[in-house]
Order: sequence, then structure tokens, then C-alpha cells
Amino acid sequence: MKICVLPGDGIGVEIIAEAVRVLDALKSDGLKMEMEYAELGGCAVDSTGSPYPEATQKLARAADAVLLGAVGGPKWDVLPRPQRPERGLLGIRKDLNLFANLRPAVLYPELANASSLKPEIVSGLDILIVRELTGDIYFGEPRGIAVEDGKRVGRNTMIYNEDEIRRIGHVAFKSAQKRNKKLCSVDKMNVLETTQLWRDVMIEISSEYPDVELSHMLVDNCAMQLVRAPKQFDVVVTGNMFGDILSDEASMLTGSIGMLPSASLDQNNKGMYEPCHGSAPDIAGKGVANPLATILSAAMMLRYSGNNEAAAVRIEAAVKKVLAAGLRTGDIWEEGTKRVGTREMGDAVIAAL
Ligand code: NAD
Ligand code: IPM
Ligand code: MN
Repeated sequence: MKICVLPGDGIGVEIIAEAVRVLDALKSDGLKMEMEYAELGGCAVDSTGSPYPEATQKLARAADAVLLGAVGGPKWDVLPRPQRPERGLLGIRKDLNLFANLRPAVLYPELANASSLKPEIVSGLDILIVRELTGDIYFGEPRGIAVEDGKRVGRNTMIYNEDEIRRIGHVAFKSAQKRNKKLCSVDKMNVLETTQLWRDVMIEISSEYPDVELSHMLVDNCAMQLVRAPKQFDVVVTGNMFGDILSDEASMLTGSIGMLPSASLDQNNKGMYEPCHGSAPDIAGKGVANPLATILSAAMMLRYSGNNEAAAVRIEAAVKKVLAAGLRTGDIWEEGTKRVGTREMGDAVIAAL
């Protein structure tokens, strides 16, 4: 497997180092992987002026998979928008046509007390959020801030065409077929026409999946239901912006955003794998970030792009073992467990492998 590694900014550098060490450990067991590093985000802006430079484009396009840390930070928030780290991230998602973002929120039983909800509400939680990733208000035109009639006007366009909805719908239905066969499509059809179309198309394609039970929920209610009774969900499918917000919310049910991995896939399971969290400027450089979301993203990479379920399961089992042994980074620490840093957590996962 040819892997393009993009550490990015802030804690991205620290957590990617651990994920790569975990992969290297598997390599010594015969797994064939070639890793090449490139820059994305703020670090790329600093060295080339572009958040998604040509050299990175070349490597990413040629690779079988991309492993990403995180991008962004206050240093770059003052730049014109096309030069900001986040544009690099949106750029690579669009460039590689990674329209299907899978964000599994799974509670490890050992972390039941780290969740902000009561253990009985979250125990056994296993939700898959399927987020559309290359459309919606994130990419819609026209956009911008302009002066109109002497006033500044900010504008973004929420837009989906039926093909975009259909292809993410099929991914979601197929995912549900492999799980508990329940799919909840989340929209705001009571107000927004784009999401009326979203609902219509989901209903249309549902006839191809008679074994999957399709339901619909308005996004505000979904945000509430996720903290009221999250176990009612199996697979949730939604648009780019709602999916961004709901997946951060779901992450907290699992104890910490530092636990939530993701896969962003194209039509052929070429993918980019990254934790759902950001560059965490408040803890960057301190060696305390939780690397598990990134290590679990590497597991997803082996599963989806590497077609190596056994290796993926091995990493996931190692993570489970480390949690069962009571090791915790600060974000998931509780009384009676051992607080460790990023590197020690990586060491422990490798030892458990
Ligand atoms: P964030 O996810 O970086 O941080 C939110 C909070 O969660 C912070 O308190 C942080 O310390 C904590 N946190 C996040 N990951 C953690 C980890 N692995 N271990 C322990 N604690 C962790 O979100 P933010 O502060 O809103 O954004 C910071 C920057 O990251 C912004 O520039 C934003 O644009 C960018 N961002 C990038 C990505 C990405 O690269 N995929 C995702 C989200 C945000
Ligand atoms: C994420 C992030 C990104 C998004 C930002 C950094 C562009 O929040 O991956 O969830 O909104 O998609
Ligand atoms: Mn986000």
C-alpha cells in the first residue's frame, strides 16, 4: 500500500507520529506499506504559500490512501480565505472526490464514565454517522462578503443536486445493511428546500433496500435525541454541515473527541483517514493529546483502502487492551486510571499489538 502521510499542524504532528509507529510495528510483521510525507494546511502555507501545494496533490493522487493529522491554528486565521489551512483540507477532499465521510461513534465499555452522559444512556453505543463531504454550503457558489447598497453582506449557498444525494444515500444504505439495518436520514426539510430534495431522494432509493428501515429526523431534534437517547440510532446519513456538527456532538458520547476516527472515501474506496478533531492549539506541543482517534483512523485505512480486516481488528483490539489496562490521556482521564502522554499511549498500543 502506498500511503501519503500528512501530519498537518498543531497536535497533528504529535498524533500522526504515534499512528505511523503503530503501522510500522505491523510492517515488521510483514504488512507491506510505503509511506511518503507531504505538507497540508498551515505548514504548507508557511513553506509554499498554498495550503494544498502541487507536490502534495501529486503524492496524494498517486497514493492508495492518505493519512492526515489535523490542520489549522490561530496563526493562519488572519490570512485571506483561499490561503487558509481549512481550504487545503476542503481542497484535498474535493480533489480526491472523497464524498463519503464515515464517522463511527463507538463507546469502549472502559470509557463509560468518561462520557458526559450517564453510563446507562451510552453503554453499548455504536453509531455510524455518514456525512456527505464534497457538497452543501461548504462548497456552494455564490459565496463571499461583498458591499451591497453600502452594507456588507455575507453570503453562502446551500446546494445539492440529486446525484450527489443519491450516491451518499447508497453508501449509507449499504452501511446499514452491514449493521443493524436502521438508517436515519437527517435534514431540515421544514425550512430548507435543498433538504426537501435530500429527503425525497432518500425515499426514492429506499426501494432498492427493502431490508433497511429508513426513518427521517429534523436536525434540531436529532441534536437533542443524540444526548437524550443516542442508542436509538444505528446509521445516520446527513449533509456536510449538519454532519460536521452532529459528529462532534456524538464524539463526546464516546468520552472524548480524541477517540473519534474517520474515513473519507471516493467511489472506489480510495480514502483519506483522519481523526474528527482539529489541531487543538490549546494543547499543541505539550505531548498530551490523545492519539487514539488517529490510530483508529489508521485501522480504518487498513480496513477500507487496504482491504485488510485482520490488521484493522488487531489495532482496534490493541486499543481496547490499553484502555482495559487503565491507561488514559488527559481528555479521558478519571480517578483510579493512569494518566499518560501521547507518546506513552502510542508505546502502550504497540506493546499491546
Ligand atoms: P479542536 O478539535 O482542535 O479542539 C477542540 C477541543 O478538543 C480543544 O479543547 C482540544 O484541546 C480538544 N481536543 C481535540 N483533539 C484532542 C485530542 N486528540 N486529545 C485531547 N484533546 C483534544 O477544535 P477547535 O479548537 O475548534 O479548532 C482548532 C483548529 O483546528 C481550527 O483552526 C480548526 O479550523 C481546525 N480543525 C481542523 C480539523 C481537521 O483538520 N480535520 C477539524 C476540526 C478543526
Ligand atoms: C472536520 C473539520 C473541517 C470541516 C474543517 C476544519 C474544514 O471541522 O473535519 O470536521 O468542517 O469539515
Ligand atoms: Mn468538524
